[in-house]
Amino acid sequence: MTATQPPETPAPSERVFLITGASSGIGAATARHACAEGWRVVLAARSHERLNALAEELGGPERALPVRCDVTDWNDQQQMVNAALSTFGRLDVAFANAGFGGPRGFLKDTPEHWREMVLTNVYGAALTLRATIPALSESRGHLLLTSSVAGRRALPGSMYSCTKHAVTAMGEAARQDLHGSGIRVTLIEPGMTDTPFFENRPTDALQDDDIARAVMYAVSQPPHVSVNELLVRPTAQQG
Ligand SMILES: NC(=O)c1ccc[n+]([C@@H]2O[C@H](COP(=O)([O-])OP(=O)(O)OC[C@H]3O[C@@H](n4cnc5c(N)ncnc54)[C@H](OP(=O)(O)O)[C@@H]3O)[C@@H](O)[C@H]2O)c1
Repeated sequence: MTATQPPETPAPSERVFLITGASSGIGAATARHACAEGWRVVLAARSHERLNALAEELGGPERALPVRCDVTDWNDQQQMVNAALSTFGRLDVAFANAGFGGPRGFLKDTPEHWREMVLTNVYGAALTLRATIPALSESRGHLLLTSSVAGRRALPGSMYSCTKHAVTAMGEAARQDLHGSGIRVTLIEPGMTDTPFFENRPTDALQDDDIARAVMYAVSQPPHVSVNELLVRPTAQQG
């Protein structure tokens, strides 16, 4: 294959969808939707037992590969992609979704928690891009990042909102950088979604399935259509 020839389109059952933060919430729901639509999935997070259980539920080793990966660790990220390629031979979608929040108020949260949050939400997402771009270049694949409504409007005293603004910038920076590579880039910007992200689970919120459907919408468009941003709020959410 030369650089000017697009790769052959694989059969749907051959395509491979990698998700970080797949052990819970939006990532796990997206894995279920992707499998239901025929994709093979690579499930990455730190909670290996939860990933193993999900991989079993999704059809076992033929369909789902669980990989322990702390997204803040560059070696883990490289090993995640190596495992995906050595097991399934290709990578078509990478969804940089791992992340967490914290209390609002610049005097509320601890500096140590901020550090973990910035390393996970920003540095971790950047490492996922860096680790997956070579394989996505081969497949002319698709890169998605989970930002947030909090990555579109600043929330008072929210360091989390600052990290998600960085992810929003990262999506647009990646889109421009990858122009001409055939890789499409999508920012997923959920409003309040009822997942273990919240200690006190919200009411009138989206379900993780609602965001998974938005992800599947973006990745199911024909190759000439690049859905760059999807901001999805619950109808009941004002800000
Ligand atoms: N829920 C909402 O209202 C909402 C709104 C906007 C955006 N988001 C974003 O959506 C994404 C998914 O969150 P969620 O709502 O689905 O919450 P969740 O259920 O708590 O899922 C978070 C996922 O991130 C993983 N994770 C956290 N730190 C990690 C690390 N260092 N390395 C690897 N994986 C890590 C967790 O797995 P392990 O703990 O097993 O590693 C888990 O799978 C996050 O980026 C979040 O900021 C959520």
